[in-house]
Amino acid sequence: MERFVIEGGKNLSGEVTISGAKNSALPIIAAVLLTDKEVVLENVPDLIDVRTMIELAKHLGAHVEFNNNILKIQARKISKITAPYEIVRRMRASYYVLGALIAREREAKVSLPGGCAIGPRPIDLHIKGLKTLGVDIEIEDGYINARAKKLKGREVNLQGPKGTSVGATINVMLAATQATGQTIISPAACEPEVEDVANFLCHLGFDISGQGTHTIIVKGGCAPSGVHYTIIPDRIEAGTFAIAAAITRSTLSISDCRPDHLTGILEKLEEIGATVEKSENKIVVTGNHQMRATNIFVASYPGFPTDMQAQCMALLSTVPGTSIIKETIFENRFMQALELMRMGADITIEGDTAVIKGVQRLSGAAVMASDLRASASLVLAGLVADGETVIRRIYHLDRGYEKFEVKLSLLGARIKRRPE
Ligand code: EPZ
Repeated sequence: MERFVIEGGKNLSGEVTISGAKNSALPIIAAVLLTDKEVVLENVPDLIDVRTMIELAKHLGAHVEFNNNILKIQARKISKITAPYEIVRRMRASYYVLGALIAREREAKVSLPGGCAIGPRPIDLHIKGLKTLGVDIEIEDGYINARAKKLKGREVNLQGPKGTSVGATINVMLAATQATGQTIISPAACEPEVEDVANFLCHLGFDISGQGTHTIIVKGGCAPSGVHYTIIPDRIEAGTFAIAAAITRSTLSISDCRPDHLTGILEKLEEIGATVEKSENKIVVTGNHQMRATNIFVASYPGFPTDMQAQCMALLSTVPGTSIIKETIFENRFMQALELMRMGADITIEGDTAVIKGVQRLSGAAVMASDLRASASLVLAGLVADGETVIRRIYHLDRGYEKFEVKLSLLGARIKRRPE
């Protein structure tokens, strides 16, 4: 295992280029299984999770070449319909092959993903949605055994206890591409990544409309073609670098991003007192010493995203005043708080609410990464803490950030990757 060693207190400057969106790339690689033609994907981030999804696609029979963020992939034939526990346990998004295999082969055997550090992560909505389309599903020996004699388009309700579901929306959409008639998914998730998957499917030749809203309509049954498609930029990586500018009181130019996907994040940064300039595919963010506390109520898109909550907690630990964060999506997504407190942050957790009292300074410490966004939060805190911060288990971070320490070093941060 590797660790980051960070020397805090350095101002940052310059421009950072944002990579492709992890949460688009993963379902789109699964969606490629829908066609037997070659697909070329550009702007694919080189991440542990992407390489896991590529491993799974190859396991199922696809031929894959991945170089310089370009992925050439073709599933001429599907040789296996099983997504084994060995792969799924490493990355829950493997379950996207469920919808794709049901559409392509009318059957699939996918290991249950289980929970993860941030919560139990049930998939009842995925199963309910697929059953609505006529898929027979049995859970046996930790596997989802799915078989669909006939896929029939229907109205699919994806209302869950925490609102709708990104993953279930995508899985149902994939299966619905080969259902006879029309499928109406409502409420559908409207995250940009869901919209990107739908747009990719349209480029394959499928008839999908309403993406980006809470009602997606899929008119099923067509022979998909091949396509050349570019993945959207990663809005969470862009938001993470925006917070890097704010927490180090620096000015950073963040390019190859989609400012229109960042509204919920940038509004909060401006509320805190950072300045934000937007242009077509770039934002310039400046942190300053007038920044103040605020309250964050995590929400699904276009609200403030749960995937930015941990990073914002680090920032709010360094601005004067008392802030409140309410995490409404996941049950256990405050793990970074305990590690930030080791660095001198003043945080009290009460159920789904964190109360953060800004402190004058954070001090470097040995801390432990627990999950992807908590790891990013600790790096951000390390950039501004006095002295040295050592972050262990950074494989969590490598799942979702491409060359994170390289990009930060190019902006002037003192951060090195070291063997454990
Ligand atoms: C996706 O997870 C993202 N992952 C998450 O990003 C993101 O935080 C999440 O959407 C919310 O935006 C990928 O895209 C790979 P959900 P997903 O289904 O699809 C509950 C990151 O850091 N729920 O929208 O799993 C669920 O427990 C990751 O990049 C059910 O109850 O999220 C949660 O409370 C973390 N039943 C809520 O819904 C279900 O069947 C939202 O989950 C499915 C979900």
